[in-house]
Amino acid sequence: MAIERTLSIIKPDATKRNLTGAINARFEESGLAIVAQKRLHLTRAQAEAFYAVHAQRSFYGELCAYMCSGPVVVQVLQGESAVTRHREILGATNPANAAPKTIRKDFGVSVQENSAHGSDSPTEAQREISFFFAQTEIVG
Ligand code: CDP
Ligand code: MG
Repeated sequence: MAIERTLSIIKPDATKRNLTGAINARFEESGLAIVAQKRLHLTRAQAEAFYAVHAQRSFYGELCAYMCSGPVVVQVLQGESAVTRHREILGATNPANAAPKTIRKDFGVSVQENSAHGSDSPTEAQREISFFFAQTEIVG
Protein backbone atom coordinates (compact mmCIF):
# COMPACT_ATOMS: atom_id res chain seq x y z
CA MET A 1 0.00 0.00 0.00
CA ALA A 2 1.25 3.45 -0.81
CA ILE A 3 0.08 7.02 -1.00
CA GLU A 4 -0.72 7.81 -4.65
CA ARG A 5 -2.10 10.65 -6.71
CA THR A 6 -4.62 10.29 -9.51
CA LEU A 7 -6.52 12.56 -11.89
CA SER A 8 -10.25 13.12 -11.48
CA ILE A 9 -12.49 14.98 -13.92
CA ILE A 10 -16.06 15.92 -13.11
CA LYS A 11 -17.59 15.77 -16.57
CA PRO A 12 -20.02 18.21 -18.27
CA ASP A 13 -23.16 16.18 -17.53
CA ALA A 14 -22.38 16.49 -13.80
CA THR A 15 -21.30 20.15 -13.68
CA LYS A 16 -24.48 21.00 -15.64
CA ARG A 17 -26.63 19.34 -12.95
CA ASN A 18 -24.74 21.03 -10.07
CA LEU A 19 -23.28 17.74 -8.81
CA THR A 20 -19.68 18.87 -8.21
CA GLY A 21 -20.10 19.00 -4.43
CA ALA A 22 -22.05 15.74 -4.22
CA ILE A 23 -19.37 13.90 -6.21
CA ASN A 24 -16.50 15.42 -4.26
CA ALA A 25 -18.19 14.46 -0.97
CA ARG A 26 -17.91 10.81 -2.06
CA PHE A 27 -14.15 11.19 -2.54
CA GLU A 28 -13.59 12.99 0.73
CA GLU A 29 -15.78 10.54 2.68
CA SER A 30 -13.64 7.73 1.25
CA GLY A 31 -10.42 9.26 2.52
CA LEU A 32 -9.21 10.76 -0.76
CA ALA A 33 -8.03 14.36 -0.45
CA ILE A 34 -8.45 16.95 -3.22
CA VAL A 35 -4.93 18.43 -3.50
CA ALA A 36 -5.40 20.41 -6.75
CA GLN A 37 -8.51 21.66 -8.54
CA LYS A 38 -9.64 23.91 -11.39
CA ARG A 39 -12.77 24.51 -13.42
CA LEU A 40 -12.16 24.63 -17.20
CA HIS A 41 -14.01 24.64 -20.48
CA LEU A 42 -11.89 22.27 -22.57
CA THR A 43 -11.05 23.13 -26.16
CA ARG A 44 -11.54 20.46 -28.78
CA ALA A 45 -7.75 20.18 -29.11
CA GLN A 46 -7.37 19.60 -25.35
CA ALA A 47 -10.05 16.89 -25.33
CA GLU A 48 -8.53 15.16 -28.36
CA ALA A 49 -5.05 15.20 -26.80
CA PHE A 50 -6.26 14.03 -23.40
CA TYR A 51 -8.16 11.08 -24.91
CA ALA A 52 -5.62 10.34 -27.70
CA VAL A 53 -5.35 6.75 -26.44
CA HIS A 54 -8.92 6.27 -27.73
CA ALA A 55 -8.33 7.91 -31.14
CA GLN A 56 -9.11 4.69 -33.05
CA ARG A 57 -12.30 3.92 -31.10
CA SER A 58 -15.70 4.48 -32.71
CA PHE A 59 -16.81 6.75 -29.84
CA TYR A 60 -13.76 9.08 -29.94
CA GLY A 61 -15.33 11.93 -31.94
CA GLU A 62 -18.51 12.01 -29.88
CA LEU A 63 -16.55 11.70 -26.64
CA CYS A 64 -14.37 14.71 -27.51
CA ALA A 65 -17.41 16.77 -28.53
CA TYR A 66 -19.16 15.90 -25.26
CA MET A 67 -16.12 16.74 -23.11
CA CYS A 68 -16.09 20.25 -24.70
CA SER A 69 -19.85 20.74 -24.36
CA GLY A 70 -19.68 22.46 -20.97
CA PRO A 71 -17.47 23.10 -17.96
CA VAL A 72 -15.42 20.36 -16.33
CA VAL A 73 -13.64 20.31 -12.97
CA VAL A 74 -10.18 18.75 -13.16
CA GLN A 75 -8.58 17.74 -9.90
CA VAL A 76 -5.87 15.67 -8.29
CA LEU A 77 -6.90 13.18 -5.61
CA GLN A 78 -4.38 11.88 -3.10
CA GLY A 79 -4.57 8.96 -0.72
CA GLU A 80 -3.80 5.33 0.00
CA SER A 81 -3.95 3.35 -3.30
CA ALA A 82 -5.69 6.38 -4.80
CA VAL A 83 -5.73 5.10 -8.40
CA THR A 84 -7.60 1.87 -7.63
CA ARG A 85 -9.69 3.35 -4.83
CA HIS A 86 -10.88 6.17 -7.08
CA ARG A 87 -11.89 3.71 -9.82
CA GLU A 88 -13.84 1.66 -7.25
CA ILE A 89 -15.74 4.74 -6.10
CA LEU A 90 -16.52 5.66 -9.73
CA GLY A 91 -17.86 2.24 -10.73
CA ALA A 92 -17.99 0.64 -14.18
CA THR A 93 -17.78 2.79 -17.32
CA ASN A 94 -21.42 2.08 -18.21
CA PRO A 95 -23.67 3.28 -15.36
CA ALA A 96 -26.02 0.39 -16.15
CA ASN A 97 -23.26 -2.04 -15.11
CA ALA A 98 -21.91 -0.02 -12.17
CA ALA A 99 -22.16 -1.39 -8.63
CA PRO A 100 -24.67 0.11 -6.17
CA LYS A 101 -23.59 3.30 -4.37
CA THR A 102 -20.92 4.16 -6.96
CA ILE A 103 -20.81 7.62 -8.53
CA ARG A 104 -21.61 6.37 -12.03
CA LYS A 105 -24.51 4.25 -10.75
CA ASP A 106 -26.00 7.09 -8.76
CA PHE A 107 -25.31 10.03 -11.10
CA GLY A 108 -24.37 8.69 -14.57
CA VAL A 109 -26.75 9.27 -17.48
CA SER A 110 -25.28 6.96 -20.16
CA VAL A 111 -22.07 5.15 -21.11
CA GLN A 112 -20.82 8.47 -22.51
CA GLU A 113 -22.29 10.85 -19.94
CA ASN A 114 -20.99 8.92 -16.95
CA SER A 115 -20.31 11.95 -14.73
CA ALA A 116 -16.64 11.47 -13.84
CA HIS A 117 -13.27 10.30 -15.12
CA GLY A 118 -10.49 8.54 -13.24
CA SER A 119 -6.97 7.54 -14.33
CA ASP A 120 -6.72 3.78 -14.90
CA SER A 121 -3.09 3.18 -13.76
CA PRO A 122 -0.30 4.99 -11.89
CA THR A 123 1.57 5.62 -15.15
CA GLU A 124 -1.51 7.08 -16.81
CA ALA A 125 -2.22 9.11 -13.65
CA GLN A 126 1.19 10.80 -13.95
CA ARG A 127 0.57 11.68 -17.59
CA GLU A 128 -2.94 12.96 -16.91
CA ILE A 129 -1.95 15.03 -13.86
CA SER A 130 0.88 16.73 -15.74
CA PHE A 131 -1.50 17.34 -18.68
CA PHE A 132 -3.47 19.78 -16.48
CA PHE A 133 -1.29 20.78 -13.53
CA ALA A 134 2.17 22.16 -12.81
CA GLN A 135 3.83 20.66 -9.72
CA THR A 136 3.45 24.04 -7.99
CA GLU A 137 -0.35 23.85 -8.37
CA ILE A 138 -0.57 20.59 -6.38
CA VAL A 139 -0.69 21.28 -2.67
CA GLY A 140 -0.77 18.10 -0.59
O1 CDP B 1 -13.67 6.18 -18.27
P1 CDP B 1 -13.29 4.72 -18.31
O2 CDP B 1 -11.81 4.48 -18.09
O3 CDP B 1 -14.15 3.89 -17.39
O4 CDP B 1 -13.66 4.19 -19.77
P2 CDP B 1 -12.83 4.24 -21.15
O5 CDP B 1 -13.02 2.93 -21.83
O6 CDP B 1 -11.43 4.70 -20.90
O7 CDP B 1 -13.59 5.33 -22.00
C1 CDP B 1 -13.37 6.71 -21.79
C2 CDP B 1 -14.71 7.41 -21.83
O8 CDP B 1 -15.25 7.29 -23.15
C3 CDP B 1 -15.80 6.83 -20.92
O9 CDP B 1 -15.69 7.23 -19.58
C4 CDP B 1 -17.05 7.36 -21.58
O10 CDP B 1 -17.31 8.72 -21.26
C5 CDP B 1 -16.67 7.27 -23.07
N1 CDP B 1 -17.18 6.04 -23.73
C6 CDP B 1 -18.23 6.14 -24.63
O11 CDP B 1 -18.73 7.24 -24.90
N2 CDP B 1 -18.71 5.00 -25.25
C7 CDP B 1 -18.18 3.80 -24.98
N3 CDP B 1 -18.65 2.71 -25.59
C8 CDP B 1 -17.11 3.69 -24.07
C9 CDP B 1 -16.64 4.83 -23.46
MG1 MG C 1 -10.19 5.03 -19.25
